[in-house]
Amino acid sequence: MRTQVGIVGAGPAGLVLAHLLRRAGIDSVVLEARSRAHVEGRIRAGVLEQGTADLLDGLGLGARMRREGLVHHGIELRFAGERHRIDLHALTEGRSITVYGQHEVVKDLIAARLDAGDPIRFAVEGVRLEGLASERPAILYRQDGQEQRLECDLVAGCDGFHGVCRAAVPPGALTVHERLYPFAWLGILAEAPPVADELIYSAHERGFALSSMRSPTLSRLYLQCAPDADAGAWPAGRIWDELRIRLDCDLPEGPIVQKGVTGMRSFVVEPLQYGRLFLAGDAAHIVPPTGAKGLNLAVADVRVLAAAIAAFAATGSTDALDGYSARCLDRIWRVQRFSWWMTALLHRFPDADPFDRRLRAAELSQLVHLPSAARTLAENYVGLPLL
Ligand code: APR
Ligand code: PHB
Repeated sequence: MRTQVGIVGAGPAGLVLAHLLRRAGIDSVVLEARSRAHVEGRIRAGVLEQGTADLLDGLGLGARMRREGLVHHGIELRFAGERHRIDLHALTEGRSITVYGQHEVVKDLIAARLDAGDPIRFAVEGVRLEGLASERPAILYRQDGQEQRLECDLVAGCDGFHGVCRAAVPPGALTVHERLYPFAWLGILAEAPPVADELIYSAHERGFALSSMRSPTLSRLYLQCAPDADAGAWPAGRIWDELRIRLDCDLPEGPIVQKGVTGMRSFVVEPLQYGRLFLAGDAAHIVPPTGAKGLNLAVADVRVLAAAIAAFAATGSTDALDGYSARCLDRIWRVQRFSWWMTALLHRFPDADPFDRRLRAAELSQLVHLPSAARTLAENYVGLPLL
């Protein structure tokens, strides 16, 4: 089999790339290790930057997002018994975010691609890459017990943090930058109305808490917990009690329909290219979930990659492809900085001394008293301009 672009991974990065390439008249095949049901049922974050929502719209994929997504013009910060609204709309000249689950985005992208008759191969096994340093790379895999070989002009490694593409690069060709955090998030989805119309980020002395939502009847709530926490040690009663304390308010309870612990790390590999392999999304970088930048950053990567691939297809020149990595890394590091900063600002660090705690309190105070500080938060939160 042959295609122009072999895409490994049907997460947001791989799927958005496939749609952008189709619009540019470029063929691709998407290979996904898991089943369609698994990919569509995987609960992740749910905040779309304005640029991400606009891009989905521009691809004709935004109809359900516009119908069911919730547009938010502000967020609330709670700390030290105080409540402050950050007016995203006013601070960013009218920009906003859309609360819409990542797995809903994934469902829309899969349905549109399959409806158009374009290939996604689910449940493929044993994916490995060949000839990356040549002009004829290939992806080998098994499907229904049959060995397959997909030859392409280039390979897009969109297979997430635990994928095989990054690992296929020879040792020494990539530099890894990584930071781990001494905590994790316990996340729940509960059949209960959200406590407020907007997201609440709370920096409580017992630890961070976040109130988010998926719909007017479905809450998405998070609690900072130990990095090795066992979700089983958090029965419903303990979760609701802790949420009440940290969010500093009463909140509607309801059946918890999903519960899980998410680790926190910052991670970047450089460069994003090895020969004819291009890494994008979580395969190349991870941000801690505070601020919900993961999906948005993946979309920003593939937007640049699709344009570079289109230039290559049109001219045969690899100049734009060779510039892909540097072009993306500028944004990647700025978003890393923001996600790290927001994480450090709002969480309790077990080893923080009184000096650290005073600095954190001063930073929170500055945010709500200095409009330029609030504006910097707001501009990053709604999303840096796309290149
Ligand atoms: N072969 C094929 N597919 C694979 C392989 C493999 N060897 N390994 C992993 N995959 C698939 C995963 O099953 C997953 O569907 O690659 C996909 C990667 O998708 P994501 O993990 O969603 O990553 P990405 O598309 O980069 O999206 C980034 O997703 O992880 C969240 O928080 C993150 O919101 C961010 C966004
Ligand atoms: C979510 O709704 O899942 C969410 C919202 C905001 C964040 C992180 C996650 O900062």
